[in-house]
Amino acid sequence: MPSLNFLPLVVLFLGFAYAQGISSQPYYFERLDANNTALLIIDHQVGLIPLVRDYEPDEFRNNLLAHAAIGNVFNLPTVLSSTSETGPNGPLVPEIVAMHPNAPYIKRQGEIDAWDNADFRAAVQATGKQQLILAGITTDVCATFLALSLRQEGYSVWVNAQASGAASKTVADDAKARMRDAGVHVISPYVVVSDLLRTWANNTYNVQAIGWDFAYWTLRGYMTDAHAAAIQNGTLVPGELDFN
Ligand SMILES: *[C@@H]1O[C@H](CO)[C@@H](O)[C@H](O)[C@H]1NC(C)=O
Ligand SMILES: *[C@@H]1O[C@H](CO)[C@@H](O)[C@H](O)[C@H]1NC(C)=O
Ligand SMILES: *[C@@H]1O[C@H](CO)[C@@H](O)[C@H](O)[C@H]1NC(C)=O
Repeated sequence: MPSLNFLPLVVLFLGFAYAQGISSQPYYFERLDANNTALLIIDHQVGLIPLVRDYEPDEFRNNLLAHAAIGNVFNLPTVLSSTSETGPNGPLVPEIVAMHPNAPYIKRQGEIDAWDNADFRAAVQATGKQQLILAGITTDVCATFLALSLRQEGYSVWVNAQASGAASKTVADDAKARMRDAGVHVISPYVVVSDLLRTWANNTYNVQAIGWDFAYWTLRGYMTDAHAAAIQNGTLVPGELDFN
């Protein structure tokens, strides 16, 4: 009978080899392609917003408007949807509807997963796009159910987490983990804008993107203000260059 003294070493070696195998898997960095991207606005309804407890109300309103505005910055096909509008959920936020007067607006008759509604499925399919950026209230239900359905259909799904809200941070964290397990990209709106822009030297879209920064990304808006003020009217104050 051979000695078992080496068994721990063998187990260690096999574990190491396995880990090496995993880490040497080729990685594909999927980029958003504006030609292949559509924006979905899901259940951003006035009656659901009070359920959101993982963002402050004013911050969350800004995030909702920022999500909707991305569609106009990059001329993305956009689909709006709500469910049970005549009940406690209420209508979509009016400012969001006003941003997309010509977009399909699917008012579901109660279906919680938007993908369960034939009109919504047809509207998404009609965009002809494979990369779908979505946000929904709540994160764990309306955003997650749709995201998982779309993954099952083979779409590439990008959930704007900042424009999706839940009853608590724990609920949101669990929902995002569940979506990631299904291969969903959980991202911020800055990821969408930056990835579509590709370069600050994007002459076609940079002006609209800076406009989006000013409207919704407060810190970058003020950063740009400060730079412009320094270029136009700035002078160095004594001491400013003395400590470089
Ligand atoms: C997107 O479409 C435009 C206009 O049809 C084309 O010029 C551009 O190369 C396309 N971009 C990609 C990444 O396919
Ligand atoms: C500018 O953005 C558009 C839309 O995403 C993209 O198709 C184009 O390639 C970008 N231009 C450059 C120079 O990267
Ligand atoms: C520079 O100063 C002028 C005159 O006060 C003002 O009108 C202008 O807005 C300033 N520019 C910036 C970028 O702050």
